[in-house]
Amino acid sequence: MKGVILAGGLGTRLYPLTHVTNKHLLPIYNKPMVFYPIQTLVDAGVTEILIVTSGPHVGHFLGVLKNGKELGVTHLEYAYQEKPNGGIADALALAEDFADGDSIAVILGDNTTDAAIKDSVQGFKDGSVVFLKEVPDPQRFGVAVFDKNDSSKIVRIDEKPKQPESNMAVTGLYIYDNKVFDYIRQCDPNFAGRGELEITQVNNFYIEQGKLSWQELKGYWSDAGTFKSLHSASSYWAAKDNA
Ligand code: DAU
Repeated sequence: MKGVILAGGLGTRLYPLTHVTNKHLLPIYNKPMVFYPIQTLVDAGVTEILIVTSGPHVGHFLGVLKNGKELGVTHLEYAYQEKPNGGIADALALAEDFADGDSIAVILGDNTTDAAIKDSVQGFKDGSVVFLKEVPDPQRFGVAVFDKNDSSKIVRIDEKPKQPESNMAVTGLYIYDNKVFDYIRQCDPNFAGRGELEITQVNNFYIEQGKLSWQELKGYWSDAGTFKSLHSASSYWAAKDNA
């Protein structure tokens, strides 16, 4: 399996910090944000990694990551998302040649977790896997809707619903087989009304085919795309380091 980290977008919610560098290079406690998803992949045995990025500061990644060797990456590639806010699925489309028919473990570049995904990666056969986490504020996320007669089955994922039908957020960690690229080609930029190709629509295509499974992410997880979440993620990792 290969790994993909999506680090595009403009990080406008973190202006003025992101006027000077890419969001994913901002510090979370003592490391640049992007180190965390890289570590999660390397710990899972996924060491061939593509980073998709965009915006005015893309060159900064090379200076920070170089060839990734210091982080245990055996092969590091970069891709440039020309529409910086084209959406998560638009960014993922750029991984098709890199994947070269293989399955992929995908992590959003602003997600940090101390959960291990090694067993999920090693046990993956086909279809897709999403990782869920119970949250107090599901309106901020993709939210799983469960079958009323079978609470283990997801029937739909809603993107940032005003009235969430569960408090189980879809985290920014995903495993896909190579069909993901065909599903991305079917995505509609109006799916969630923000002109982006949404990963949630891709996940719903897998649900329609009966090919999406889910696991609860065991451990800490947070995104870091707002001042509040950036601060709380830094506090978590600082406390863990000093424990
Ligand atoms: O954090 C988990 C959530 O991430 C999921 O629950 C949602 O279903 C999913 O849509 C996403 O929601 P956000 O609104 O928080 O995503 P955001 O636009 O902040 O983008 C998250 C990361 O994805 C960002 O750090 C970089 C990457 N990205 C995003 C966009 C829009 C790209 O690489 N390219 C893009 O065009």
